[in-house]
Amino acid sequence: MPRIRLLPETVASQVAAGEVIERPASVVKELVENSIDAGAGKIDVLVRRGGSSFIRVIDDGCGMDRDDALLSLERHATSKIRSTADLEAIATLGFRGEALPSIASVSRFRLTTREQDAIAGTEIIVNGGKIDIVRDGGEAPGMQVEVRSLFYNLPARRKFLRSENTESRNIEHQLQLQAIGHPGIAFTFARDDRLIYQLPITANLIERIRDLYGTQLLDQLFPIAGPDKSRIQIRGMIGRAGVSRQTRAQQLIFVNGRAIESPLVSNAVREGYHTALMKGQYPVTFLFLDLDPAAVDVNVHPAKREVRFRDPNDVREAIVRSIQETLERGRSEWQKKFHAPPVAGVADPGRVTHTAPEKQVADLTLRPTQTFPEESQGQLGAALGELGRAQPPRDVVGQALRLPAACTDSASDALALQRRAEQSASQKFQIIGVLNKLYVLMENADGLVLVDQHAAHERILFEELRRRMEEQGVPSQKLLIAQTFDLSPRDADWIERNLSILQKMGIGIESFGPNTFKVDSLPSFLNVSDAPQFMRKVIDDLKSASTGSSPLRLGEEMIAKTVCRHAVKANDPLRYAEVEKLIHDLLECDLPYCCPHGRPTMIQISLTELEKKFGRRI
Ligand SMILES: Nc1ncnc2c1ncn2[C@@H]1O[C@H](COP(=O)(O)OP(=O)(O)OP(=O)(O)O)[C@@H](O)[C@H]1O
Ligand SMILES: [Mg+2]
Repeated sequence: MPRIRLLPETVASQVAAGEVIERPASVVKELVENSIDAGAGKIDVLVRRGGSSFIRVIDDGCGMDRDDALLSLERHATSKIRSTADLEAIATLGFRGEALPSIASVSRFRLTTREQDAIAGTEIIVNGGKIDIVRDGGEAPGMQVEVRSLFYNLPARRKFLRSENTESRNIEHQLQLQAIGHPGIAFTFARDDRLIYQLPITANLIERIRDLYGTQLLDQLFPIAGPDKSRIQIRGMIGRAGVSRQTRAQQLIFVNGRAIESPLVSNAVREGYHTALMKGQYPVTFLFLDLDPAAVDVNVHPAKREVRFRDPNDVREAIVRSIQETLERGRSEWQKKFHAPPVAGVADPGRVTHTAPEKQVADLTLRPTQTFPEESQGQLGAALGELGRAQPPRDVVGQALRLPAACTDSASDALALQRRAEQSASQKFQIIGVLNKLYVLMENADGLVLVDQHAAHERILFEELRRRMEEQGVPSQKLLIAQTFDLSPRDADWIERNLSILQKMGIGIESFGPNTFKVDSLPSFLNVSDAPQFMRKVIDDLKSASTGSSPLRLGEEMIAKTVCRHAVKANDPLRYAEVEKLIHDLLECDLPYCCPHGRPTMIQISLTELEKKFGRRI
């Protein structure tokens, strides 16, 4: 007796729908994508009760005549591709001819549509996949789809719906993706008959981001510096170094206008940010990749959420490079802020020092009568000193670091004042003082800047070590007794592969028999008593971080992981000259605004914000 049977058409549709329509947000996604493909200039979305009771999408696109409208409800009926060749270079969002029949098979479905110049339109009502009514309709040109009682005929799936709020949030997220991806289309979104947003047609992404998320977010973003001559165009906006979120919700990625999720792209973004991102945090990205449609396969995921790249390495590298360049360019933006003249009658900090009464200058210093022990002259300086750095004085402040400790009384006060006068001509920020022995307070044109001295030191030391690693390798110090240690075969293999970078990092390590290694020197800035234990920790730390990253990255990772312990700790008091040097060195860094672990080094509090807080401005 035969056991195999062909499924009836309705059941087959419901099975197919299971893949395409997972939840109310999938319905919204498919309908809005259809509207976009139809060339709509305006799309209105209304949902009730998280979309499970009602979803309506109205567009002013090209619409359909009656025959096409009927055909659009058949499975595999599409106007977007015709042949296998078309499948290889898809330029539309839809292409499978599955969405409408899938939605119609799991809901009470009503479609009305009219072509732009047609006199009459068509109305079709489908219940659970069965066409019940087809008649003339008088709606405006375009298309209107209403989806009621989603999954009413699939109780199992209905049970899996989350709370109304969660489903609504998913829908809203879906719409935000579409709205960001298509600034040239106007969108409205209403939830339970309350208008959530109304986005006018805009000329560009920046305006759309402003309309959707507000200027506060926009202020934290930089436009992406895309690669010049590349087959991959990269554009969009990304969060400044140090700007991050706890979830992926604001990590938006588009490939040829299609919002996608892609571990490859996310990892490349993360690698681009590298030390500019806090562990466990996600960057904010509005990242648009445009490439030849033939170089991307969009037909790999049932809900078209993922894509496959023909040259994944090219894509990865282009993204990493763009992100790095963007973040580094952001540096000059920051520096500009420090070079702008301060406000409120204080035209130029350089001039202030020359012309303002002495008293004012003295008030700005950091309790100069306090004396500090020798060690407190910046562990950074000490750490770099250990590296054998015959540090040439980059400026007068640099020399101050080498003043003997005994000179910290009135003589050095006078010197400090003189130095300030000389130096302020080149550095146009003004240090106000240090709060809680940790935060340096500064004034710039925008208002108040707070610098975390510990984070700042980490950043400076990190960049210095990285430079040394790239140039001649980090100086190392011989251990009194070379030590051997055993590793698991996997860890041993990892070390073998990364020997040269470890050596550049100042770790004198070599193979000493199968799975055994010998260490005879370590970077001189480290203070490690148990070398084997240190090595095991380094391997553990780096192994997880290094999958797929370059040797240079690995080295950076290693510095970032070891630097922290050696930068000046919070509460280490610094002398005025040291603070000045710290700020100066920080501004010289490639990425001055966050530490190597992605925490911010400085926070700006604008005068406007202060005025608001003091009620001077509403
Ligand atoms: N809003 C609309 N305006 C005009 N035509 C539409 C609209 N929505 C759908 N259509 C037409 O109906 C066809 C079927 O739509 P459907 O969404 O089922 O398939 P698709 O978009 O071609 O592919 P996919 O299943 O990948 O979405 C489309 O190819 C299009 O021609
Ligand atoms: Mg479609």
